[in-house]
Formats: sequence, C-alpha cells, structure tokens
Amino acid sequence: MDSNSLNEKFAIPDFVSIADVAPNYPIVQISNSHASASIAVHGAQVLSFQPNGEEDLLWVSKTAVYAEGKSVRGGIPICWPWFGTHPDTAMPSHGFARNCFWQLTSVKQDHSGSTEVMLCLEDDIASRSLWPHAFELQLRVSVGKALSLELTMVNRSEEVVDLTAALHSYFDVGDIAGTAVRGLDGVEYIDALQSNRRLTQAGDVRFDAELDRIYQQTAGDEFIDDALRGRSIRLQKQGSDSTVVWNPWIAKSSRMDDFEDGGYRRMVCVETGNMGEDVVRLQADAAHTLGVTISAEKA
Ligand code: BG6
Repeated sequence: MDSNSLNEKFAIPDFVSIADVAPNYPIVQISNSHASASIAVHGAQVLSFQPNGEEDLLWVSKTAVYAEGKSVRGGIPICWPWFGTHPDTAMPSHGFARNCFWQLTSVKQDHSGSTEVMLCLEDDIASRSLWPHAFELQLRVSVGKALSLELTMVNRSEEVVDLTAALHSYFDVGDIAGTAVRGLDGVEYIDALQSNRRLTQAGDVRFDAELDRIYQQTAGDEFIDDALRGRSIRLQKQGSDSTVVWNPWIAKSSRMDDFEDGGYRRMVCVETGNMGEDVVRLQADAAHTLGVTISAEKA
C-alpha cells in the first residue's frame, strides 16, 4: 500500500492528504471548514472525528497497533461478515473486514464544505478461505458538522447469505463514571456477562463495572451524555435494529496489550449493528446498508 501514489491520485490541496502513520499504513487526513478527521485504509477504519471547537468524539488507545492483520484499538472498526466470536474459535473475532487493507476509491469535496471518502472491499482468495462467498462492501464516509458512515454490503454470490455486522464505535468520554447512554430505556438486551440472559433496561445505561450487552429493537436515536465535558454525542442509525454497549473495565482491559492503562475510564463503545437476533439475510445480488450519523451537542 503506497501512500505516495494514493496521495497523487486522491489528495485535495488544503483539504485532504494521505500519509503513512506506520510503514505502509496510509491514513486519509481530512480538514475542512466543519471538522477534521482521519481514516485508515486498513479496515476502512475511521480513527478520529473532531468538529471545529470540540474535542475528538472518538477514542483511540495510545498503545494501539498499526499493522496489517490487526484492527486498531479504537475509532470505528468494521465487524463483518460476523459479529463477535465465531463458532469455530480458530476464526477471527468480529469477522475479517477490519483486518485487511481496503481500496480507496474516491475522495470528494462538496459544495457545503463536507468531504466524502469511499472505500471498497471485495472477496479474494484470503477472504474465501474464511467465508466462502462473493461479496462487495462499500463504505461511504462523510465528514461535515456530523460524521456519517454508510456500509453497503452486496451479496455477489448465487446463494442466500446470513450476516451480522457492526460499526464498532469507540467514543471518547471525560470520565466513564459520569457517562450515561440514553435512548435505551425499556429496551430488552442480551447480557453477555450473565450467560446471555435476557433483561430489560430501566433508565439510562450507567457504568461501574464491566458491561457487555446487545440491545434489541433499537432503531431510534441514542445519546452518550458526558457530564464532565458537558456534551452529548448523538447517534442516528440506519438499517440497524440492534446496538452493543461495551466497556471492558479494569480486568478485561488490562488483559489486552493494545488497551492503554486506565483507558477504560475514557471510552465507551456504543456499536450500531446487525447482531443478536438482528441478522441480515441477503438473497443473491441483494444489498443492505448499515449506517450511523454521529454529532456533538451541548448537554
Ligand atoms: C465488543 C464485544 O463488541 O467487542 C466484546 O461485545 C468484545 O465482547 C469487544 O470484547 C472487543 O472485541 P475485540 O475482538 O476487538 O477485542
């Protein structure tokens, strides 16, 4: 992956440039009149989104690894074509789309001052050894006052395929103790830490221990209220009826080499997805789009 040739083809003077953050690991860097952002070509992973005058909405671990085959700990990894652990434990967790280089296909500046970046992934020998289907994935990222992601998955095979997926967003918060996830009151969830028991959310989701839940039937907006920062992050979903809320807390985060010490206090994952019962069934040549628009508001 050569950042010089990507830069020659896709850079837009004053707005977009492409540079390596590690050898052969190009990042698309965007700075426009609304915000700045960065997107790794590896995994089509958005790593930062900072509207003007705001702190970054996304969290990335200071000890994250930037190398082919492993997703960066933070930002928005794309989990696809399966979410979570595979029944065959030799298979990668959260699928393979986050672990390989995508193709950067277009970069545009629009009249409103927003920047649009498109990335694409298609099946190849490596993907077919893990998942034997032809597919096309396209990620459209729009960077303006808000950050929008649209992941379109097309079944290019001749058989019906079932998929689960997530835009696994890691959000930056001032302090997890003063953070609440709003918009899930009364919603049923599957609790991964209680043998997948089904429970019902009462009030906002708050954090004082490890938490790992799949909320079902969640098409409405969700908010991350950050008391320390005095801001709320709003998530507007598209093509998603499920949401994962995750914080690894102390013991689990300390078992992950790429999770900075104490980082669990500064992050929360609220993942827009198709997971749990929200499985996407695609007929031959059919497509599904999973999307989220993320913006900051004063709390
Ligand atoms: C979350 C899961 O989506 O991702 C957690 O609900 C998991 O159970 C977490 O630990 C991180 O997964 P990974 O594979 O990136 O370490």
